[in-house]
Amino acid sequence: MNSHHDDIRAVMWRNDKLYLLDQRLLPHQQKFLAFEKTAAVADAIRDMVVRGAPAIGVTAAYGVVLAARGVYATGPSAWRQAIETELALLAAARPTAVNLCWALERMKRVMEDVQGDPEPILLQEAKLLHEEDIQANRRMGELGAALIERPCSVLTHCNTGSLATGGYGTALGVIRSAFAVGRVEGVFADETRPWLQGARLTAWELVQDQIPVTLLADGAAAWLMSRGKIDWVIVGADRIAANGDAANKIGTYSAAVNARYHGVKLMVVAPLSTIDRSTPDGKAIPIEQRPAIEVLSLAGQPVAAEGAAAWNPSFDVTPAELIDAIVTEKGVVLKPDAARVAALFDAA
Ligand code: MRU
Repeated sequence: MNSHHDDIRAVMWRNDKLYLLDQRLLPHQQKFLAFEKTAAVADAIRDMVVRGAPAIGVTAAYGVVLAARGVYATGPSAWRQAIETELALLAAARPTAVNLCWALERMKRVMEDVQGDPEPILLQEAKLLHEEDIQANRRMGELGAALIERPCSVLTHCNTGSLATGGYGTALGVIRSAFAVGRVEGVFADETRPWLQGARLTAWELVQDQIPVTLLADGAAAWLMSRGKIDWVIVGADRIAANGDAANKIGTYSAAVNARYHGVKLMVVAPLSTIDRSTPDGKAIPIEQRPAIEVLSLAGQPVAAEGAAAWNPSFDVTPAELIDAIVTEKGVVLKPDAARVAALFDAA
């Protein structure tokens, strides 16, 4: 364990290939899959090999590098058109995580000016984007930890750690930083049905970092809050609208409503790349619907009565009025609304 409590990397570029830690197998098996084709990267994003909005963005950036491999031979500018279909596959892989489109737009801007073989310059940009994500997470860790006034227990939902980002994590980064300075004593983690990101991934990261973690069924959180056990709920986001409404893993809204009722504060931690200023409010955020089988089964085993249907939205939207602080790498927005979010961008 290093001083930042951060040893895990889920996305790596090595020997001209993209490697993704297959998060579907965690915590029982640690297996990296190698990728050389963009279409396979898009499949991996959709199928949850890699997940978490910032990690999806970093992965998509490397996916663009793979799309650009060898295309220069098609002509000094024709190559841009030749890779469009593959970029569209990446863009369509998961609709809510705006970091995906943000990363693709950033890579496309670099593509516009490239002279010669695009692969080396796009690889340089993807590595930069990856490194910037880690640095942003460390900064958010400091800013978020500073909001926690006294040693306390916190509740988190889903997985927002090294696995969900370029490294270190957003909400889990704040928890890591706050633990390092003694402001977090222990973490309660919702197990996060249906994919169990809390039980499988957050618990795995925290156990490795020797940060005390206690799992609970998602439905137990309100009761835990009522017992005065939690000071802060700290979560990430897949997309934050211009007015501060925040989409995150299904169940976050429930945690937010429960937190407000019990006088517990809610911190949403996300890089600027997660704030989508072209989406005015939460109603305009596209919510990914995933297959019913994910709810009807558990670890590959059917658990529901045969014939039952299932509703499986992957995300929900927490209205800005329930959020006490949005923490970004460029600063903190307290009691977010459209004007305060806009002021953050003006200052940045
Ligand atoms: O479906 P997932 O596992 O990709 O959902 C992830 C989340 O909801 C995270 O909270 C969010 O992406 C922020 S990760 C830093």
